[in-house]
Amino acid sequence: MLLLAINMAACVSTFAVPSSFESPIAFSSSDEAKALLNSGWWGNFSSTNHCDLEGITCNDAGSVARMESLLLLNWGNSDEIGTLSKLTHLDLSFNPYLQGVLPPTLRNLTRLVHLDLSWTYIEGPIPSSIGNLRNLIHLDLNSNYYLNGSIPPEIGNLKKLSELDLSFNNLQGPIPSSIGHLSNLTYLYLRSNQLCGSIPPEIGNLKSLLVMDMSSNSLNGSIPSSIGRLSNLTSLYLHTNQLNGSIPSSIGQLSSLVVVDMGHNNLHGPIPREIGNLSRLTYLALGRNDLVGTIPNELVDLHVLEYVDLSQNNLSGLIPNKLWSERTLNLSYNRLDCQISTSPNGCPDEEGSSFTPSCSFTTAALESEYELCRTIK
Ligand SMILES: *[C@@H]1O[C@H](CO)[C@@H](O)[C@H](O)[C@H]1NC(C)=O
Ligand SMILES: *[C@@H]1O[C@H](CO)[C@@H](O)[C@H](O)[C@H]1NC(C)=O
Ligand SMILES: *[C@@H]1O[C@H](CO)[C@@H](O)[C@H](O)[C@H]1NC(C)=O
Ligand SMILES: *[C@@H]1O[C@H](CO)[C@@H](O)[C@H](O)[C@H]1NC(C)=O
Ligand SMILES: *[C@@H]1O[C@H](CO)[C@@H](O)[C@H](O)[C@H]1NC(C)=O
Ligand SMILES: *[C@@H]1O[C@H](CO)[C@@H](O)[C@H](O)[C@H]1NC(C)=O
Ligand SMILES: *[C@@H]1O[C@H](CO)[C@@H](O)[C@H](O)[C@H]1NC(C)=O
Ligand SMILES: *[C@@H]1O[C@H](CO)[C@@H](O)[C@H](O)[C@H]1NC(C)=O
Ligand SMILES: *[C@@H]1O[C@H](CO)[C@@H](O)[C@H](O)[C@H]1NC(C)=O
Ligand SMILES: *[C@@H]1O[C@H](CO)[C@@H](O)[C@H](O)[C@H]1NC(C)=O
Repeated sequence: MLLLAINMAACVSTFAVPSSFESPIAFSSSDEAKALLNSGWWGNFSSTNHCDLEGITCNDAGSVARMESLLLLNWGNSDEIGTLSKLTHLDLSFNPYLQGVLPPTLRNLTRLVHLDLSWTYIEGPIPSSIGNLRNLIHLDLNSNYYLNGSIPPEIGNLKKLSELDLSFNNLQGPIPSSIGHLSNLTYLYLRSNQLCGSIPPEIGNLKSLLVMDMSSNSLNGSIPSSIGRLSNLTSLYLHTNQLNGSIPSSIGQLSSLVVVDMGHNNLHGPIPREIGNLSRLTYLALGRNDLVGTIPNELVDLHVLEYVDLSQNNLSGLIPNKLWSERTLNLSYNRLDCQISTSPNGCPDEEGSSFTPSCSFTTAALESEYELCRTIK
């Protein structure tokens, strides 16, 4: 048996490949190299030094610091990952062979800053030991169809997190209130799971949030008024849940909001006038709820508002003047009067004229609606 004594710590890579060998471990005496071999992930080394393998970057001390963009053959003996304790970046995304449960030894990777296991076949729960990875800034586990169980409360230990993406999985149970500890979080994606229970009021502590997407779950209860504290929020997606109660008026404090989609819930009560405060709003979708009352005149003052869907509610009264001007507007399936006193070109007149019973306007439809009112006049 040919044994080569190699100082892996210095990351030496200048020795010759032996002409024959019995054990590939002969290449290296380092624990990390052994772990990589034992894992079975790469079959046998194609290089004499694991630091030279494609997708692997070692640090100056010769330890594996990054594993990225690898097309693994299989997840193999995944426990071996715990040996690579100096890893800062682990990105095994889009890997069809990455299967099985997340190994408990993942808890050993306390230096991880970036963990991306999106679009794989990992299954079972997110282990509570994820809470050990206290240096994580970016955690992406999206689009793992077999990832189930509930979000472990220990996720709240990851205080440095800036981006958390758990969307398009099969996660169940409530959103843990400990999520409110993630004060540096800027992106929170929980879309398309089976999360239930209510949105924890602690969500209001996430002062750095820019995007919050909890759409397409089974969340119920009311929207906590504490969302009014998310002063930097630009996008709020809560559509397709079972949220009830009314839209909190504190939404008027979110002056950075550009997109609001709360459609397809059970929201009651009026559309808060405070929405008129959201001067950067371009997209407002509140369709398929049980909203009552009139459409607030304040919406007319939102000059960059391009898309408004208030369809399938129980809104009544008149459509505010000029609301339709240069906007895509869907007001169908309400109890609106469908009368207006003025229109873009002074048509119809102050007596008011009826639009089509559906009251559905789009930019494309605007021309024909305009023609309609002209004809009536
Ligand atoms: C690794 O190399 C050994 C010896 O050459 C061979 O028997 C084995 O099949 C190889 N394994 C893989 C996964 O390529
Ligand atoms: C965890 O990392 C340490 C080195 O920091 C190592 O000695 C130990 O074997 C690792 N544990 C596991 C389970 O891999
Ligand atoms: C998670 O999925 C596995 C199969 O991958 C199944 O055995 C287990 O019961 C599921 N757990 C939950 C909580 O649904
Ligand atoms: C939050 O982010 C800021 C700016 O990036 C950084 O200075 C601070 O240390 C972070 N806080 C935590 C707990 O990571
Ligand atoms: C909100 O955004 C402003 C401007 O980008 C930034 O200076 C501020 O730190 C942000 N606030 C928080 C709590 O992240
Ligand atoms: C939410 O749904 C659960 C059942 O999934 C129920 O027990 C709970 O009372 C509901 N809460 C509210 C506020 O509707
Ligand atoms: C929300 O629904 C739950 C159960 O369906 C009900 O008990 C509660 O009163 C509702 N809340 C509001 C504010 O409508
Ligand atoms: C409207 O926004 C301003 C800041 O832009 C804020 O001070 C005020 O409280 C908001 N009003 C309401 C009703 O939310
Ligand atoms: C308007 O909303 C209704 C009900 O939500 C929907 O069926 C229809 O397709 C929408 N119309 C347009 C033009 O988007
Ligand atoms: C619509 O609201 C009226 C009261 O304004 C109420 O009588 C009616 O039941 C509501 N319709 C639906 C479908 O909720």
